[in-house]
Amino acid sequence: MTEPLENMRRTHYCGELGAGQVGQEVVLMGWVQRRRDHGGVIFVDLRDRDGITQVVFNPDYNVQTHAKAETIRSEFVLGVKGKVEKRPEGMANPDLKTGEIEVMASELKILNRAQTPPFMIEEHVDVTENIRLTHRHIDLRRPGLQKNIITRHKAASAIRNYLNSSGFLDIETPFLTKSTPEGARDYLVPSRVNPGMFYALPQSPQLFKQLLMISGFDRYYQIVRCFRDEDLRADRQPEFTQVDLEMSFIGEEDIMAISEGLVSAVFRDVLNVSLKTPFQRMTYATAMEKYGLDKPDLRFGLELFDISDIVSGSGFKVFADVVKKGGIVKALNAKGCETFTRKEIDDLTQFVTVYRAKGLAWIKVRENEWQSPITKFFSESEKQQMAERLDMKPGDLVFFVADQSKIVNESLGHLRNHLGKKLGLIDENRFEFLWVTHFPLLEYDETEKRYQALHHPFTAPMESDYDKLASDPLSVNSRAYDLVLNGSEIGGGSIRIHQKDLQVRVLEALGLQKEEYEEKFGFLLSALDSGAPPHGGLAFGFDRLMTILCGGSSIREVIPFPKTQKGACLLTNAPNAVSRSQLKELSLKIDLE
Ligand code: AMO
Ligand code: AMP
Repeated sequence: MTEPLENMRRTHYCGELGAGQVGQEVVLMGWVQRRRDHGGVIFVDLRDRDGITQVVFNPDYNVQTHAKAETIRSEFVLGVKGKVEKRPEGMANPDLKTGEIEVMASELKILNRAQTPPFMIEEHVDVTENIRLTHRHIDLRRPGLQKNIITRHKAASAIRNYLNSSGFLDIETPFLTKSTPEGARDYLVPSRVNPGMFYALPQSPQLFKQLLMISGFDRYYQIVRCFRDEDLRADRQPEFTQVDLEMSFIGEEDIMAISEGLVSAVFRDVLNVSLKTPFQRMTYATAMEKYGLDKPDLRFGLELFDISDIVSGSGFKVFADVVKKGGIVKALNAKGCETFTRKEIDDLTQFVTVYRAKGLAWIKVRENEWQSPITKFFSESEKQQMAERLDMKPGDLVFFVADQSKIVNESLGHLRNHLGKKLGLIDENRFEFLWVTHFPLLEYDETEKRYQALHHPFTAPMESDYDKLASDPLSVNSRAYDLVLNGSEIGGGSIRIHQKDLQVRVLEALGLQKEEYEEKFGFLLSALDSGAPPHGGLAFGFDRLMTILCGGSSIREVIPFPKTQKGACLLTNAPNAVSRSQLKELSLKIDLE
């Protein structure tokens, strides 16, 4: 039987009690973490979001309450009234915040019973993530997850406080809307009253925030859900949260300053860490050259070096041919790794093939010789130049990839991160922020055979490059910037195009015909022609920022109800099939070919 709450009311949370409350009568409400029977005396660890308090049911103190306590099981919901007492000499638990005291129960209400939980509510229980996600409401009782979710709340309030006091207005934008191109597929929602028509869920509020600038709201922000149907990775979710902002009458420096202030406020309020601003900056070109990725982790060195010029005429045909065909050869020196086994090198070779590298050449530097399958192909002069550029010293192991620059950079960039972890080069307590700037405006999509925006099509080109939009589109730089923290892209934004004619030129550079861009972006073009102020902004990936703030390894650790790699919610079993009548109402037919 369960009992009604009636007029029993909580006086404290379970993490609040200490020596200061000894002698007081208190009422606690919570879940049974553990029940232990010690020769007639029953001890219950009572848990709530704040902590754990030990409650004692002693038959000498209250026979009835003690008898009732015998029926208690894990995860039962209790209301307990009792007196706070200091624990007897030697019984204090220094690992528990409330370890100095216990509550001698005089009254117990079993507010609800619970089935035996599918796993213990503890940090390090051995259970698969899928089982946790299926019972997420129980998993969320774990102290680690409770802490993350509460930390997320603290970060969101720090952000709101900072932006509210900087003159930003919190304004909502629609979810049922038209596609905004951010590079992913759209989630579509059929319209019942417009048969055959669909809304798209927003990949971001990009166009609406620009429209708000055109309407004169000047400084906008929103902590907002975005939806992207893309292949999921460890740091991606199909629905995720952005801290989205936009400002009028500003340039890059203003957005960067506000963003740095925002991140600093979060780190101060949540971690009590004071960040050094301004953050470092690096151009996209330098990031690619030295680190192979546009989001370099600057907590360690292990830089990449281009050696194409040295090996272009060498006897190693693989390298020479790649350079002849317009590719590049780059290398990184894993200092002191000469002891790597054949198996370790094979594993790393396997690792880079994921990024389409065709091989991973290597040289082990020994006292008087280089050990490698490829040294015999190089002349003394080539070897000497390589040794100098790569600072090759006895004990080192150098890795090489030769291919088109995209493949070389991606494979060696990821290899660098992988080695950084494997070799323990990363100080996990460091926060290395970096602005990456001067992105190209466009890239060429080989599969689609057309140009596409590297950021999004509303990003302004650098003014000095306007002339090259039609003649040499790939050389046009944009006014976009990304914020990188410890190798994770935590935010990105740009100064926008605010002139209709320039927007048309960029859409044309993207290969869109007039009818096509009028149909897709006519409303934007007409808005740009109605008095659009110069404006720009940025969006933070709130979940990614939280993952780093919480020291977690996965974005799913900071989201209350996340989805699996296959986009499923295991708790509710979404997505699921719908009834025939629902489909009919929406004028839809399923064709599972
Ligand atoms: P962008 O597409 O770069 O820019 O997104 C901004 C930030 O959102 C985060 N992010 C994600 N986080 C989790 N799961 C995902 N699937 C996911 N996709 C992106 C990243 C990223 O840096 N409208 C522009 C912003 C602007 O120009 O103001 C935009 O959405 O941390
Ligand atoms: P092979 O001549 O194919 O036996 O290759 C000799 C070495 O060069 C091996 O260690 C290969 O992994 C490596 N290798 C082959 N192709 C490439 C490439 N495109 N880039 C870097 N290393 C390569």
